Amino acid sequence: VKLLVTGRSGQVARALAGLTGSAAIICLGRPELNICDRASVDRAIALHRPEVVVNTAAYTAVDKAESEPDLAFAANAGGAGNVAAAAARAGLPVIHLSTDYVFSGDKRSPYVETDPVGPAGVYGQSKLAGEEAVAAANPDHVILRTAWVHAPWGGNFVRTMLRLAGERDTVRVIVDQHGTPTYAPHIADALLAVARYVIAARDGGAWRGVFHMTSAGETTWAGFAERVFAAARHSGLNSASVVPIATSEYPTAARRPANSRLDNTRFDAVFRAPLPAWQVGVDACVAALAAASEPSAR
Ligand SMILES: NC(=O)c1ccc[n+]([C@@H]2O[C@H](COP(=O)([O-])OP(=O)(O)OC[C@H]3O[C@@H](n4cnc5c(N)ncnc54)[C@H](OP(=O)(O)O)[C@@H]3O)[C@@H](O)[C@H]2O)c1
Repeated sequence: VKLLVTGRSGQVARALAGLTGSAAIICLGRPELNICDRASVDRAIALHRPEVVVNTAAYTAVDKAESEPDLAFAANAGGAGNVAAAAARAGLPVIHLSTDYVFSGDKRSPYVETDPVGPAGVYGQSKLAGEEAVAAANPDHVILRTAWVHAPWGGNFVRTMLRLAGERDTVRVIVDQHGTPTYAPHIADALLAVARYVIAARDGGAWRGVFHMTSAGETTWAGFAERVFAAARHSGLNSASVVPIATSEYPTAARRPANSRLDNTRFDAVFRAPLPAWQVGVDACVAALAAASEPSAR
């Protein structure tokens, strides 16, 4: 299988680039491939001749998006549409990543794909517009909504918690937002399984459309932090105590959903590639960071 992946330095793109095995995975970022520049996407597809195109590139600064809506929409809506359209022109399927932030968070139980959307902020609105652009541009699309992504690289909650543990004994963390931390290398494994499935079932099967794809289980940001610090202690890294706080005590530019939990039943039934429990991903992430850490982090 040969994949062309948009984004090179992102959390998921780097995880895809790190996969070993028989897949050929080509990750391209700016300036070579800019999803806002249609011609650069067409050129990359013509040059590398992939079997599937995977769009991981996105504007992901959730709070900054509130003051930069044009940039967020250019990448997350226009760019996503460009990638899907370029794949369609080449007769290829596209796999596109989206987010739990397309939902308002008001539902009491995990969201299923058919639940009404209602993003609370610009980032979620731009990602929702991206889903619509992808679906309109290419009938052979798989849209995978994931959540709370972390990896041993890039900017993410695990790395922030470990940095804070080196600076203080207690960390205040939100306890009234519920969701599922999802480890980028587990997303990469699942994306490869989806790509293989799509190629094998190209002319049939129920693989088109929107799917929810997070790690198994659920927690809160405070529970996530507790797990990070437990793993840190296990690995001999700095840890801290978690002080649970309410969302109202931690104002941010963008409002975030109180309920980010996604029901993965459809994804697991179609692709049969369920992601491991979120705790497995957190422990693996902290272990990888510990293995690479300087003595000062201990
Ligand atoms: N992070 C999360 O918690 C989360 C949660 C749910 C869904 N998602 C979705 O999952 C996907 C992957 O997220 P991630 O965490 O891997 O993202 P990330 O680490 O923030 O990386 C995003 C990448 O997109 C690239 N990019 C932005 N604009 C581009 C453009 N115009 N052309 C080409 N590349 C561009 C960035 O390049 P530069 O490095 O050059 O800026 C960066 O490498 C995204 O679709 C995101 O919306 C993420």
